[in-house]
Amino acid sequence: MSENGDDTSHQLRVSKIHNGTVIDHVRAGQALNVLAILGIDGGDGESVSVGMNVPSDRLARKDIVKVEGRELSQDEVDVLSLIAPDATINIVREYDVVEKHRVERPDAVSGVLSCPNSGCITTAGEPVTSRFEVLKDGVRCGYCGTIVREGIADQIDT
Ligand code: CTP
Ligand code: ZN
Repeated sequence: MSENGDDTSHQLRVSKIHNGTVIDHVRAGQALNVLAILGIDGGDGESVSVGMNVPSDRLARKDIVKVEGRELSQDEVDVLSLIAPDATINIVREYDVVEKHRVERPDAVSGVLSCPNSGCITTAGEPVTSRFEVLKDGVRCGYCGTIVREGIADQIDT
């Protein structure tokens, strides 16, 4: 009953999904960034449920994102780990959780973030794939060394 912290019947719960992915234990406040990372803007008909600031047993408050009919790529999970380091990815098939794993912070991410430095080779229109080293508290551009701590979600290439 981690979704609401207890099981009293007067609480509304975010519905279970049939097939898809539940991204649970997302840091409170990051749900919209999770949607941005997944490229979900509501325009392509995917059925998505979002819970924000839901009581949780592991975190004081958490966000939760449920995406029907979709499983995530490793690249997507890697970027999610940067903004939701405690997240659990639950793969649901026929209403059952068939796989559950914590996200892991990768050592580096390639081709998923753009460098905020307009003088960086990766932003100069050259055919160079961005690459960021993952630090404890941010990411560092492998080309120009620019460090991004806040607003990583804003640097996601979509
Ligand atoms: N879930 C869902 N639809 C399903 C099955 C599960 O939306 N068909 C959601 C649950 O509501 C929960 C998450 O997926 O938020 C993980 O489900 P489960 O492993 O059953 O819950 P817990 O054991 O509470 O998870 P954890 O131990 O990871 O907190
Ligand atoms: Zn750079």
